[in-house]
Amino acid sequence: MLIGCVGGGSNFAGFAFPFVPDKLKGKDIRMIAVEPTACPTLTKGVYTYDFGDAVGLTPLVKMYTLGHTFVPPGIHAGGLRYHGDAPQLCLLVKNKIIEAVAYPQKPVFEAALLFAQTEGIIPAPETSHAIKCAIDEARKNNNNCIVFNLSGHGHFDMAAYDNYLSGKLEDYEYSEDMIKEAISKIPKF
Ligand SMILES: Cc1ncc(COP(=O)(O)O)c(C=O)c1O
Repeated sequence: MLIGCVGGGSNFAGFAFPFVPDKLKGKDIRMIAVEPTACPTLTKGVYTYDFGDAVGLTPLVKMYTLGHTFVPPGIHAGGLRYHGDAPQLCLLVKNKIIEAVAYPQKPVFEAALLFAQTEGIIPAPETSHAIKCAIDEARKNNNNCIVFNLSGHGHFDMAAYDNYLSGKLEDYEYSEDMIKEAISKIPKF
C-alpha cells in the first residue's frame, strides 16, 4: 500500500508511479492519494478541461478540478490548496488505478503529533495528510505493507502546531454549493 499527500501531484507521482506498471500487470498494490476536505479536488472535483492557473493564461488541461476560480479556506496545509491536479494522476484516479481520500485538518494534526512523539520527526501539515491515512490503514491491522511518503518536515509550521495545541484550528468541508459555483466558471467549449 502506497500513500502520499496531493497538492498538485508531484510528490505522490514521483513516489507511486514507478509501481503503476506492476499494478497494471495485476500485482496487489493499493495507491492512495490524500487531500484535505477543504480542497477536495480528486474526491469532489469534476473531470474536465480547465485552466491550470487562476487567471486563465495556461493551456486547458484535462484533470479533476474545482474550477480555476476556486479559493479554498486558509488551512495550514497551504501546499494542498491547488484547484486542480496533475493530468496523469487524475487519469489514473479516473481509471481507478489510484484511490483518493480526503481528511479535515484536525485529525490530520492529531496524527502529526502522534508521529512526532513516536518517531521524533515533526512532519509538514501537507505530509501529515499521508500520515493520517497510513495510521488509519495500520489500525485496520490487515498485515499490509504500508509505505508513505514523508514529503517534508514541519520546522516552518510551528505556528500551525501551536494553533492546534491551543484549540484554535478549525475543520473545513467545502460545501457542494460553493463547489458548484466554482465549477460553473470552467470554460465551456
Ligand atoms: C511538504 C509538502 N508536501 C507536499 C506538497 C504538495 O505538493 P505536490 O502535490 O505537488 O507534491 C507540498 C506543497 O507545497 C509541500 O510543501
